[in-house]
Amino acid sequence: MSASRTPPAAVPRHVAIVMDGNGRWARRRFLPRFVGHEQGMQTLLRVLDDFAARGVEYLTVFAFSSENWKRPEEEVSGIMGLVLTGVAKYLRKLAAEGVRIRVVGDREGLSPKLRAAWDEAERSTAANTRIHLSVAFNYGGRWDVVQACRRACAEGLAPEQIDEAALASRMALAFAPDPDLFIRTGGEMRVSNFLLWQTAYAELYFSDCLWPDFGPQEVEAALAAYAGRERRFGGVRADESAPQGA
Ligand code: IPE
Ligand code: IPE
Ligand code: MG
Repeated sequence: MSASRTPPAAVPRHVAIVMDGNGRWARRRFLPRFVGHEQGMQTLLRVLDDFAARGVEYLTVFAFSSENWKRPEEEVSGIMGLVLTGVAKYLRKLAAEGVRIRVVGDREGLSPKLRAAWDEAERSTAANTRIHLSVAFNYGGRWDVVQACRRACAEGLAPEQIDEAALASRMALAFAPDPDLFIRTGGEMRVSNFLLWQTAYAELYFSDCLWPDFGPQEVEAALAAYAGRERRFGGVRADESAPQGA
């Protein structure tokens, strides 16, 4: 096998999820969209455990995009309130279970109360290592590239010092390996400005399941699909890469 190829790993180290379909889940039950978001939060808590049990080290979830401010004010404030109650209610449990929480995204646009809640979630889980949960909140892939460039400029890097490694080390998820598996629930097949830079070689997996319904079977199905993929990173297939004449 040539040195440039990575053997297929059965379990992804890093899974990124666009948790989509909360609104439709609620609408189908004639409930307010907010109820879908509440259910979505419960799903996240369950799924986090499932992935941790399967050996996934990093889970990054899209919870609120840079563009989600376009939603009705009632829905936006409902989501913000859900974060506050969610942190108050579940943080201690998550911290005790070894979950390390990080929030990635533009914090400037968030209320002081919300910033304080996220800060507390990060602080009280900072020593944990069982699974790294990164919550993308007020996050956009384009925002991330721009903020990395701004940081590089602010640190005085010359143009010739700006390369992929220089930007990668300043991106919001610089602490994690690039996602191996990108999941989107809810049936849409688009990226919606999630991890544009980091998913260059992620395996994509789309599920029609609405996020509140995403359960252990769906987790298994996504991991099984991943295990069946052959990653090449621009190289050639494993059976074609044996050294010629060897
Ligand atoms: C995803 O679910 C959660 C957020 C964007 C906050 P949606 O609210 O987008 O659900 P649908 O796509 O309308 O069903
Ligand atoms: C992506 O879902 C954002 C989150 C899941 C937080 P959206 O529902 O906002 O995406 P679009 O609008 O369908 O592309
Ligand atoms: Mg949606």
